[in-house]
Amino acid sequence: MRSKIKFKTDYPGHDALYRRRKESGAAGWNDEQTWQDWRREIVGLMGSPDFPRSGKVLEIGSGAGDVSLLFAERGYQVSGIDISATAIEWAKEKASNARLKANFEVGDVTNMGRWENGTFDIVVDGHCLHCIIGDDRAKVLKETFRVLKPGGMFYVSTMCGEPKEPEVIKMFDAETRCMVWDGVARRYIGRSEDILMEIEGIGFKIIKQEIQASKDTEDNLSLLAKK
Ligand SMILES: C[S@@+](CC[C@H](N)C(=O)[O-])C[C@H]1O[C@@H](n2cnc3c(N)ncnc32)[C@H](O)[C@@H]1O
Repeated sequence: MRSKIKFKTDYPGHDALYRRRKESGAAGWNDEQTWQDWRREIVGLMGSPDFPRSGKVLEIGSGAGDVSLLFAERGYQVSGIDISATAIEWAKEKASNARLKANFEVGDVTNMGRWENGTFDIVVDGHCLHCIIGDDRAKVLKETFRVLKPGGMFYVSTMCGEPKEPEVIKMFDAETRCMVWDGVARRYIGRSEDILMEIEGIGFKIIKQEIQASKDTEDNLSLLAKK
């Protein structure tokens, strides 16, 4: 993948999307149905036998905080990082309204130097990894590995496989496997085997993986990996 990057990235551009979502009265990044499905997945994860019942959690790409706050509700010590200042403010408001404790910070997940090595028991990819393009993906994965404690868990939920929605097909660049609009690569839809190899290549051991396949929307790969 290294030699193939031919598009710009624009991670800070997410902020404008959050401003629009907030102004429109939306509840967060996701529509209600998507959030209910995503919520079910996270609640299932927290109940699974391999998953720690307590500890320090970092959500990468925590957005308006919904996933992070699910962990906070259950007593985990939660931090969230997101590139969008609007999203982080929104997450802080939600935490305060729900009287939950969580630490939300604006930052770029390609550099998480604010946290020492071995800080977290769990890192959750809040559908952020598929927003990360090219060589930045290895940076994020190495940073994730670094901030996890030995034996720590990394949960990933990410788009994969062949694009199916007509609008996605239109934007899909088959060479880089990125969705590109306005000349900017904004989503990576890798083959599941490549994503698994990429994560194992950093030093993680995959302990569980599942592909949610769909006829008319993009497939999703969920996986649990251990440092
Ligand atoms: C698909 S949204 C999911 C948001 C949230 N986890 C949720 O489930 O509602 C992906 C998030 O990743 C964030 N993001 C994208 N690139 C980032 C980067 N380089 N550093 C930090 N956050 C990033 C976006 O701002 C966005 O909030």
